[in-house]
Amino acid sequence: MRTQGKHYRTIWEVPNQPGIVQVIDQGKLPHAFNTIDLISVEDFRRAIADMQIRGAGLIGATAAYGMVAATRMALASDAPFSFIQEVAETLMRTRPTAVNLAWAVRQQLDALAACASRLEWAGVALQIARRIADGDAQACRRIGELTLPLIQKIAEAKNGAPVNILTHCNAGWLAFVDYGTATAGIYAAHEAGVPVHVWVDETRPRNQGASLTAWELAEQGIPHHLIADNMGGHLMQHGMVDLVIVGADRVTRRGDAANKIGTYLKALAAKDNNIPFYVALPSSTFDLSMDDGIAEIPVEERGAEEVREMTGVLKDGTLASVRICPAGTPACNYGFDVTPARLITGLICELGICDPTESAIRMLLTVTQ
Ligand code: MRU
Repeated sequence: MRTQGKHYRTIWEVPNQPGIVQVIDQGKLPHAFNTIDLISVEDFRRAIADMQIRGAGLIGATAAYGMVAATRMALASDAPFSFIQEVAETLMRTRPTAVNLAWAVRQQLDALAACASRLEWAGVALQIARRIADGDAQACRRIGELTLPLIQKIAEAKNGAPVNILTHCNAGWLAFVDYGTATAGIYAAHEAGVPVHVWVDETRPRNQGASLTAWELAEQGIPHHLIADNMGGHLMQHGMVDLVIVGADRVTRRGDAANKIGTYLKALAAKDNNIPFYVALPSSTFDLSMDDGIAEIPVEERGAEEVREMTGVLKDGTLASVRICPAGTPACNYGFDVTPARLITGLICELGICDPTESAIRMLLTVTQ
């Protein structure tokens, strides 16, 4: 998407500097737009684990490039294939919930295991990383095209009044390689002249909605309001939300969707108010090996300090963290929750829109692959 006066993806290779990959430092947004060089395996591991980059699709693409770094290191130090397998394990342990990470790393492992010679490793891994990054951007673009008619239909019913869309967390272009999933249709609608307005959940505790989605939407000129996480239900009861679109970190074969903590409550409120609730995801986010999302999807637990403290800028522009509770308050921090399929109106992926049922998901994934 366009920012800082030019088109950026969230991850890219530095021209004429093989082995150097750059990403936008999302830990600093919206207060500063910095990029970070990722070169060593440790750079990639840290970027994912410390959430300098985050979001299911981007985690997958970054891990794929991390595997390229592993092949370079293996060749330079004459390390065996087991070294690459260890790196794969290390990367997969960084963030457990978004399946895109394991999906990308496994693609690399399978391709590398099939190489006739270790001399092929780096070239093959680079091709796969590029394919994953490009594929993610293309999938998100297509998700936008498929979401547009849903938004257009609501706009027509409202005689051209803005369509109010509520979203949670950041399933925007920052969470993917480009366009985003939940935001892709919003960007497509805006481009097509369909009036949209977005309610942006702040998304405690890390505030990806406030820091990232609000920044993204402002950069693209999309009308929006930041809201406290608990406000969505009230807005829905008062007819101020036409549509909810969220992203996903993993969707099981029955259509249960893991997404940022708090998504489930929005789905319940949407159901109670007859508001369509869509989950937008690239096909790489389906995990057909799992059925019951609540029982089976691993939910990441993060540090208590994320709940106890908030980070922002002081009036003088300095970035600071402040404690918002008594010192020593115990805090619990599950990063994701699972929205059962019964609360989801439809799944929007690049292959089409389907019901959240096993038969519909399987048909979508097999018919079109
Ligand atoms: O913890 P994060 O920021 O990596 O969480 C991922 C998310 O941004 C959301 O859950 C998102 O809605 C899913 S789409 C990438």
